[in-house]
Amino acid sequence: MTSKKRILTGIRPTGALHLGHYAGALENWLKLQHEYDCSFLIADYQVSDYADDIARVRDAVWEVALDWLAVGLDPVESSFVIESLVPEHAELTTWLGWFLPVSMLARNPTLKAEMESLENPEDGSSERKSVPVAFYTYPVMQVANILMPRAHLVPVGEDQLPHIELTRETARRFNHRFKEVFPEPEALIGRIPRLVGIDGQAKMSKSKNNAIYLKDDADMVTRKVMSMYTPRMSATEPGDPDVTPAFMYHDAFNHDREEVERLKERYRKGAVGDVEVKRKLAVALNDFLDPIRERRARYEADMPAVRDALASGTERYRTIARQTMEMVRDALDLNYLERY
Ligand code: TRP
Repeated sequence: MTSKKRILTGIRPTGALHLGHYAGALENWLKLQHEYDCSFLIADYQVSDYADDIARVRDAVWEVALDWLAVGLDPVESSFVIESLVPEHAELTTWLGWFLPVSMLARNPTLKAEMESLENPEDGSSERKSVPVAFYTYPVMQVANILMPRAHLVPVGEDQLPHIELTRETARRFNHRFKEVFPEPEALIGRIPRLVGIDGQAKMSKSKNNAIYLKDDADMVTRKVMSMYTPRMSATEPGDPDVTPAFMYHDAFNHDREEVERLKERYRKGAVGDVEVKRKLAVALNDFLDPIRERRARYEADMPAVRDALASGTERYRTIARQTMEMVRDALDLNYLERY
């Protein structure tokens, strides 16, 4: 292990990644990957809400890995890790479960909201689901994820803060009661913690059908942008860029800051049409996505390279995982077979 500080973060494998993932997470990871010893986890233990669609999980693991490579994460410098191929995660989760009160899960606001929407889907079209045991305990698994490499920093979206708090609490309790094993990890929030979907209503997500994917082709992106929600009735109505999705995307992805500022000025005066704002956005987004698409196409034509990235990262990570489990067993003084 190097002397760099360690980062652990993860994504649930539910499908290809979209602009919301980029703005909220990947952009940050790209910057951090050189400065820190990073492990990026594909958290396949954490998708028990897809238990009736395991084929999707199977495919999504590859989609996520492809998108990571496409945006420029480096699998040599950092470790790409498949969670369930490191069985130490299950082991650590079980031990940590000893020291986490059920009441702390019951209070976790993110978990509460997610369970609520599983049981009562808002859109009415998807069917109500009961909450699997593994869903209820996923925050414990996430604590184990973060503590496994004894991470110092966890770059995540805002909604993950309760899980980081739980991790800090667990680390404190464990260290205090047994032995100083775990650093208390800190959260790192990205530049744009929450990107609105093209519907302008909810956070961008696959389930809301309001996402622009990193792998969408140029036509698809243009079509989605042109259909984007706009709060104005006409081009001559003064508008507020701060509440207009097209401008939020301009802010996040258009590198031509001057063009954006000029457009905003005209928009505020009611001197630009939404079509022009959106056309320019489509161009900016496609400029941004082109190199990502190119890199993805190259890897799609060489899936064994993607496999190697996952295999070598997971293998490297297992060495650290085994070390941590030794430290944990030692701290708990549970090396039974060494007694006689
Ligand atoms: N729960 C996270 C999400 O939904 C994904 C995740 C799994 C994660 N394990 C993690 C994030 C560990 C940070 C650290 O986005």
